[in-house]
Amino acid sequence: MTDLSLPFESRYLPIKKLHDEYRRSIDQPEEFWAEQARQLDWFKTWDRVLDWEPPFAHWFVGGKLNASHICVDRHIKNWRRSKVAIYWEGEPGDNRVLSYSTLYNEVNCFAAVLKQQGIKKGDRVALYLPMLPELPIFMLACARIGAIHTVIFSGFSAQALADRINDVQAKLLVTADGSYRRGKVIPLKAIADEALTNCPSVKNTIVVKRTGTQINMKPRRDLWLKDLLNKEMPFVPPVAVESNHPLYILYTSGTTGKPKGIVHGTGGYLVHNYCAYQWAFDIKEESVYWCSADVGWVTGHSSIVYAPLAHGAAIVLYEGAPDYPDVDRWWHIIDKYGVSIFYTSPTAIRMLMSYGESWPKKHDLSSLELLGSVGEPINSEAWLWFYKNIGAERCPIVDTWWQTETGGIMISPAPGIQCAPLKPGSATFPLPGVDADVVDETGKPAPPEERGLLVIKKPWPGMFLGVYGDPERYKETYWSRFPGMYYTGDYAVKDDEGYYWILGRADEVLKIAGHRIGTAELEDAATSHPKIAEAAAVSKSDPVKGESLIMFVRLKEGTKPTPKLKQDIVNHLRKVIGPIATPEQVYFTTRLPKTRSGKIMRRILKAVAEKASIGDLSTLEDEGAVDEVIKSYQETEQARAEANERN
Ligand code: WTA
Repeated sequence: MTDLSLPFESRYLPIKKLHDEYRRSIDQPEEFWAEQARQLDWFKTWDRVLDWEPPFAHWFVGGKLNASHICVDRHIKNWRRSKVAIYWEGEPGDNRVLSYSTLYNEVNCFAAVLKQQGIKKGDRVALYLPMLPELPIFMLACARIGAIHTVIFSGFSAQALADRINDVQAKLLVTADGSYRRGKVIPLKAIADEALTNCPSVKNTIVVKRTGTQINMKPRRDLWLKDLLNKEMPFVPPVAVESNHPLYILYTSGTTGKPKGIVHGTGGYLVHNYCAYQWAFDIKEESVYWCSADVGWVTGHSSIVYAPLAHGAAIVLYEGAPDYPDVDRWWHIIDKYGVSIFYTSPTAIRMLMSYGESWPKKHDLSSLELLGSVGEPINSEAWLWFYKNIGAERCPIVDTWWQTETGGIMISPAPGIQCAPLKPGSATFPLPGVDADVVDETGKPAPPEERGLLVIKKPWPGMFLGVYGDPERYKETYWSRFPGMYYTGDYAVKDDEGYYWILGRADEVLKIAGHRIGTAELEDAATSHPKIAEAAAVSKSDPVKGESLIMFVRLKEGTKPTPKLKQDIVNHLRKVIGPIATPEQVYFTTRLPKTRSGKIMRRILKAVAEKASIGDLSTLEDEGAVDEVIKSYQETEQARAEANERN
């Protein structure tokens, strides 16, 4: 393992002092977090820092605040009113620059629109929007009036959209006529129309005009945003909500077919994100910060919208694909806006790395000061490439580990407070206030250098409030494996210096190109195809995406396995979930390996695909199934190789 000392002086604590500070944050968490919370503007101070009734935590109980007030209003009271809040770049090359005062006006106007549509505190509003400034503005507008937003990634299908809308019983849907992706128009409104045939809770749809595509506007239900905006620039007072009032619900895949609605509160979430963002990114007044994630994922919620704007930072928001019109689009954007902090995913780094160094070399990247990575383990090769070719060996890389559920960054280098040497591929240490550990199967601390399961032993402020409408699932999924500890579902190892190395998922959740997707969700989607009897989703390692999805399917009696059917299955998965569920390969098999109790043994399928040792077969019900799967795998791969050769 290469050790790299950070090539700059820490502005804050020397490492010894940091360890003392970390200890204090763990030993006296309430005192520590109360000090941090005082950095935000509260309408009313909390009565108690923490109510911990395991496994439910409530932070800053009785405190009152408003997220849009914290992210916008407080900046327009000083010189930041003319500071850039958002540099927005559209895929076709158009752009918009919003100052904090423009953002303030727009948030107020949009909040007035929501009120006019009858949206009240506690109502759920679904946002199915591309990466336009309107997306963060609507999020903040919801927060302003105490409504709860649920953002649905604009790459999700009509069915996935409808499922999420129905789960939260959203009253209103906000979408756009279309969005640009690699020069093509994605017909968002048409997808939303399909979803809405099955969403009785939605009374109205507000449509943002982006592409000018011809769309259907259903009379009385569908309204253009521009027709609703009040030119008078109304002021909508921010509603003082209790600290644990839900700010948003965001869906994420788990180990059952039904995605979980992760509910985040307001006060704890903002305090955690405010601090973690400062610690990990060392944000300065003059920073220009760009996180390339989509706002539709938690990274976008916390690391594009709430944390940076709470700091009054200038952010870049880019609408389109990284490789359009050419593979240097991102380097062009860094150069154009003078980005100083660039936060992205290992998959993106590996993809850009595969195009070679000549592309970043064409651009002046000297504005960069710090780089970040999130969403999946980063291999040291990609880390070093990023460090050398993008950061010019000047910029530290913060490899940040966290989850939709944790709300904010948990384990990460923290150049904002310390200067521990980096190790490529390690997320280094837990941030202050995060009591993490790696434990063995029995919940005891795993010895150094031994793989175990990552847990968090105390509540933290960004911790989710629960799974929407399902407290049992919350308890069962996260708190039953090791009583009293939060189970992350990740494998990790601590090295002999205490550095954390996150090794990937330990449960039946895949990370395809950094996107989290449950095997059960994929299998449910596959078996909804009329010709499939049974399906198993597994991943195999992929040089760019980290993992790629493959499916083994057993067809219904009498169905012929044809290439056309294979394509049809791929299309079906894309239709039910969205393009992120596109399998790299579908293998037809007549049997799937199962345990005696009937559970599919995915680890065998994965071993076959990875050409690894199959391991212990003692619980297998039918050994012939393994031979059958190997045969099907080999035949498909051989046919594929022959086809590639012919081409
Ligand atoms: C993985 C994304 C290794 C991990 C913010 C986690 C990581 C899941 C890292 C959460 C990292 C996230 N190194 N793995 N730095 N960051 N992960 O909810 O498996 O989309 O459990 O949140 O991503 O994914 P989610």
